[in-house]
Amino acid sequence: MAGADRPGQINPSILMRSTGDSRRRQAACYRLEDRVAFITGGGAGLGEATALRLSEEGANVAIVDINSDEADRVAAAIPGALSLQVDVTDGTAVERAIATTVQHFGKIDIIFNNAGIAGEQQALHEYTEENWRAVNALNGDGVFYVLKHGITAMLKSGGGSIINTSSTAALTAQLNISAYSYSKAGVTGITRSAAVEYAKQGIRVNAIAPTAVLTPMVEAFIETSEDPEGFRAERENWNPIPGWPVAEDVAAVVAFLASDDARWITGHTLPMDGGYVVR
Ligand SMILES: NC(=O)c1ccc[n+]([C@@H]2O[C@H](COP(=O)([O-])OP(=O)(O)OC[C@H]3O[C@@H](n4cnc5c(N)ncnc54)[C@H](O)[C@@H]3O)[C@@H](O)[C@H]2O)c1
Repeated sequence: MAGADRPGQINPSILMRSTGDSRRRQAACYRLEDRVAFITGGGAGLGEATALRLSEEGANVAIVDINSDEADRVAAAIPGALSLQVDVTDGTAVERAIATTVQHFGKIDIIFNNAGIAGEQQALHEYTEENWRAVNALNGDGVFYVLKHGITAMLKSGGGSIINTSSTAALTAQLNISAYSYSKAGVTGITRSAAVEYAKQGIRVNAIAPTAVLTPMVEAFIETSEDPEGFRAERENWNPIPGWPVAEDVAAVVAFLASDDARWITGHTLPMDGGYVVR
C-alpha cells in the first residue's frame, strides 16, 4: 500500500487538486486585490452592498455619502475603509473627496458613481421646478462632478473602471418620475461618450440599469405612492423573473464590471432587470 493511501494520510494528488481548485476559486472571487474603489451613496442600499462586495474581492474602499453616520457605519464593517461625508451635488466637495482618497490610498481604480434620488412622484404637468432641480442636481450634476474629478485622478494613475448607476427608467417608460427618467437617460448618454473619449487612456466607463430593488430609497418610494400594497403586489411579477432582486445582485454585477473580467466591455448600460427591458 502506498504511503498516501494509508488511513489518516492524504493522497498528495488529491491535495494538489484541491489546492489548485481553491486557488482557482480564490482567483475568481478575489479579482480586485490592491484596487481602490470610490463609492458614492455608499452609506445605504446598492452602494453599501457594493462596498462590502468590492472589499470581499480585495479592494480598499472609500465610502462617500452625505449621511456621515451611515457612511461611518458601513466603513466600520469593512477593514481599512475610509468614510467621507460628501454632498456630491457640490463639485468642490467632490474634488476634495477624490483628492483625500488618492492621498489616503495612493490612487483610485474603481468608481461606483451611484448616489441618486428618485424625487417626488408627480405627473409631468404638475412636476414642480423644485423637484426637477433637486433630482437633476444629484442624478445629473453630481454624476458629472464625480466623473470629472474621478477621471482626472485616473488619467494620472493610468486608468480604471467607472460604473455609473442608471436605471430601467432610462430605457423604458416609467410614470410620474420625469426628472428621474430624464436624469438616468443622461447617465446612460454620458456613459457612452465618456467610454469612447477615454478608451485609449485605459478608462472603461459602463453603467448598470437595475430594476426595483428593496433599498431605503425604494421603500420610501413605495410608501409615498398612492397604493403601497398594490405597488408591492404588482412588483412581485413586474419582471419576467418573478420576485425582487436584492442589493447583493447589483453588487455582483458592479464587481464584474469593475474587474478585468470585463476588460473589453465599455460604454454599455447593463440592465439588471430579470428580463424587464426585453419582454
Ligand atoms: N433601488 C432601486 O430599485 C434602484 C433601481 C435603479 C436605480 N437605482 C439607483 O441606484 C442608486 C442608489 O439607490 P439606492 O436604492 O441604493 O438608494 P438609497 O437611498 O437606499 O441609498 C442612497 C445613498 O445615497 C446617499 N445620498 C443621497 N444624496 C446624496 C448626496 N447629495 N451626496 C452623497 N450621497 C447622497 C444617501 O444618504 C444614501 O446613503 C441611485 O442612483 C438610484 O437612482 C436604484
